[in-house]
Amino acid sequence: VLSVVVLVSGNGSNLQTLIDQQADLGIRISAVVSNRDDAYGLVRAREAGIPTITLNHQQYADREVYDAALIQQMDQHNPELVVLAGFMRILTPTFTRHYHGRMLNIHPSLLPKYKGLHTHRRALEAGDTEHGVTVHFVTEELDGGSPVIQARVPITDTDTEDTLQQRVHAQEYRIYPQAVAWFAEGRLKLINNQAFLDDAALPVTGYD
Ligand code: GAR
Repeated sequence: VLSVVVLVSGNGSNLQTLIDQQADLGIRISAVVSNRDDAYGLVRAREAGIPTITLNHQQYADREVYDAALIQQMDQHNPELVVLAGFMRILTPTFTRHYHGRMLNIHPSLLPKYKGLHTHRRALEAGDTEHGVTVHFVTEELDGGSPVIQARVPITDTDTEDTLQQRVHAQEYRIYPQAVAWFAEGRLKLINNQAFLDDAALPVTGYD
């Protein structure tokens, strides 16, 4: 069983799908970390009996000091995989290097499109007819690590940020557990900054 630490900043609905499927995925969530003490994800963790760690970034001098404290706390739980699930912080190279090859993120766009924030709004404003979500390995470049899985969704004329976000979320709850299961099975690896599933270079697009 793979030891996983999950980082959240907010609602934690992706965390919840992982909590609910731990046994099936071959993982044990050994801790949930948040930079905000009001993150609802912390409540979800406590209800599942998972230890929580809250480190308020406002109480640290700078990113280096904060990320060092995060590493120190997280490593007490010996994570074999680190899962970013709506963790809304830019990570230092110290942090990304420390968990290199064993840290995944989910980003609500078809990367490399729309790195950063407000991805649903930007897709709508650009008049895109499709949008989506990407699970990727985390490297130093923000939202720039090798993709593992993408899912596409259509954009309709009547979509708002909310309806689009809901459609994307439904895909997140499908592809994030899949990526985590692959990693737990030892099938998903990062080699020379390229993601591989078994012997095939990723991403697998149009996975359905
Ligand atoms: C998810 O939609 C995830 O893709 C996004 O935050 C949301 C968290 O929802 N992540 C990012 O924007 C990362 N830059 P959740 O807290 O309900 O899982």
